[in-house]
Amino acid sequence: MKTLLTNGKLVHPDRIEPADILFSDDKIEAVGQSLAADGAEKIDCTGRLIFPGIIDPHTHFGIPIKDGRSADDFASGSRAALLGGVTTVIDFTSLERGQSLADSVASRRKLAEVSLCDYSLHCNVTRLDDNILAEIPEIIDSGVSSFKVFTTYREGGLYLDYPRIEELAGVLSKYGGLLMVHAEDDGILQAAREKLDPDSTDPSLHGVSRPAAAEVRAIEKIANIVTRTGCPTYIVHLSSAAGLTVASRFPELILETCPQYLLLDNRRYADSDGRMYVASPPLRKPADNLALWQAVQKSQIATLGTDHCPFNLDDKKAHIPFTEIPNGMGGVSLLFPLMLAEFLQRSWDLSLLARLLSANAAAIFQLAPTKGRISVGSDADLVVVDPSRVTRDWLPEQIGTIDWTPYRGMAAIFPERVYLRGRLAVDKGTILAHAPGQFIAAHSADQAC
Ligand code: URP
Ligand code: ZN
Ligand code: ZN
Repeated sequence: MKTLLTNGKLVHPDRIEPADILFSDDKIEAVGQSLAADGAEKIDCTGRLIFPGIIDPHTHFGIPIKDGRSADDFASGSRAALLGGVTTVIDFTSLERGQSLADSVASRRKLAEVSLCDYSLHCNVTRLDDNILAEIPEIIDSGVSSFKVFTTYREGGLYLDYPRIEELAGVLSKYGGLLMVHAEDDGILQAAREKLDPDSTDPSLHGVSRPAAAEVRAIEKIANIVTRTGCPTYIVHLSSAAGLTVASRFPELILETCPQYLLLDNRRYADSDGRMYVASPPLRKPADNLALWQAVQKSQIATLGTDHCPFNLDDKKAHIPFTEIPNGMGGVSLLFPLMLAEFLQRSWDLSLLARLLSANAAAIFQLAPTKGRISVGSDADLVVVDPSRVTRDWLPEQIGTIDWTPYRGMAAIFPERVYLRGRLAVDKGTILAHAPGQFIAAHSADQAC
């Protein structure tokens, strides 16, 4: 079955083009003016923007946090993703005690088999020894080329010290891997925490216990490692103006921020549901939001990821010590709807948005040209949206199964249609996808960003 989308405005990473798109099976067959295709289903997209399928490079479906798990698994999380135009998520493996990297990838891939959208993986490296280092080339060959480390979460068993991170970076740079870093310096966090009452139930202490200085110190340390090893490095969830300032001194660092660090600030911790905003890094000040928006506009930020790690209201019990509140918030279904509304309201270049939400992630994580663009031969992952349909009147249940969202009441523009590899996966807010998503291997064909 062929589909012809006519009269849409295609949002490419470098231009906006009024054109038709023809696809059949998985791939885009033609892009151009007044395309003809006998027997194709014709969809008139007059007045609609068409974006390449959105890529969320930072989700945590069903990961262990404190005593529980983040509330979306691959089935519910991918459903939420598609509703918001995200056709590919990049999630993370979890390295269990004594497990090899290869087994951690295999078990995560098994869990992801129920995903409705396509998916790729980053490999968490939360333990380092010679066996792990020796596995790196085969993991890259298997289609997982980004390796994530944490400079904190010692108590959760995720922490890696800087010398070990440097050892890993040296090996990654040799084999074409990418280092990803959760950058909060554990020493600074520990010192900040020691000054606070761990039994306090005030969620705003979460922010006090994780100062921006920790982000600054970790980014500086990582940048020095990058200088010494030449390893391509991606800083996840950049949250602060101070972190941005130091990162800007090292243009080789690839930066991600998240909607929460653009749209939300630490005054939310004083709200009656303040505990729900506990995530790491914490929400910062309005001045931090502003600095990050400016960096987005100047293309200093390469990608927007959600760090999707949602919890239901009951999962974060009220009045428990701030140190025991599970960390994380959701957002995969709102990444595109919120950002499109913001860009239009600011009259910002929509091609920049296509780069931030799709093309750059595809390039950085080696998913292009299969993903991230509207061009012949690429997967027909397409998001059709009517830019005039801004709404604030949407409910959490419209965007997934989680009963709480940090973005309630914010302006959003939801996709009208979402195509995943040529098949209509969402039609006017209704999920049609039933085929499982596919694992998309990272490869080294195209890294231009
Ligand atoms: O609070 C968060 N962000 N939880 C998910 C794990 C992480 O640090 O990204
Ligand atoms: Zn993190
Ligand atoms: Zn994360």
